[in-house]
Amino acid sequence: MARILAISNQKGGVGKTTTAINLAAGLALRGDRVLVVDLDPQGNASSGLGHPRNAVTAGIYDALLSIRDVEDVRLPTHLDSLHLLPATRDLVGAEVELVGADHRERRLRKVLSPLRESYDWIVVDCPPSLGLLTLNALVAADAVLVPLQAEYYAMEGLGELLRTVGAVKKGMNPDLARAGIVITMADARNNLCREVEGQARQIFGSEVFQTVIPRNVRLGEAPSHGRSILEYDEKSAGARAYLALADEVRARRGQQELR
Ligand SMILES: Nc1ncnc2c1ncn2[C@@H]1O[C@H](COP(=O)(O)OP(=O)(O)O)[C@@H](O)[C@H]1O
Ligand SMILES: [Mg+2]
Repeated sequence: MARILAISNQKGGVGKTTTAINLAAGLALRGDRVLVVDLDPQGNASSGLGHPRNAVTAGIYDALLSIRDVEDVRLPTHLDSLHLLPATRDLVGAEVELVGADHRERRLRKVLSPLRESYDWIVVDCPPSLGLLTLNALVAADAVLVPLQAEYYAMEGLGELLRTVGAVKKGMNPDLARAGIVITMADARNNLCREVEGQARQIFGSEVFQTVIPRNVRLGEAPSHGRSILEYDEKSAGARAYLALADEVRARRGQQELR
């Protein structure tokens, strides 16, 4: 039975998509069956997994609006056990179009429910906002995983995100857990980075993953090849970090922390 992880932070450019793709690939390489859901109209997770938005005719939008069956819009990737529900351009309109729809914040939960049996993990890449698409992700998810960029304003906005998670847990999804916080784009030689990491660990303790994702140019290059870092350059520091993160995520699940 799949655990559904929402990768969320309303800030853009903090490493959500990079984490969604490469964590998913790491889990797949460890033998798990994984589905990535690209819930960002930008479609970066789709293109990063080999399906650029312009080359995709139907996607998660069509499933959310009951236009197509979810099985019909699911795509394979270069990795056998990693599948994708891609984003299309239409997804831009979904925030508005869903407003008047029945159960508008439960749509994704309903779409994913028949797929839960087929996967060990469903990883949802959220857009950089706390709008209706992100709300759908939080209502569908078992846990939310937050990438935190190691920079000065990193903590800003984190409170708002965690309050939203708390509100969803109180209301629409009582089972929603916090999967953890992962520090991204870290530079060990940079004092500020180390400070942000220290601060996060002080405030959030073991919620912060031991694994820190370093800033690594190879991570920025891989998406243009439509492959995860684990296929693009498995020896890179980025690949090793995301594989270690996948191991930690799997271990947390084993310890029931990630219910
Ligand atoms: N650890 C990293 N090292 C180097 N570049 C990174 C790293 N993580 C992300 N990037 C790059 O930073 C940019 C923003 O990352 P992305 O994952 O798209 O963030 P988000 O999805 O939160 O907007 C992208 O160009 C991505 O390739
Ligand atoms: Mg993104």
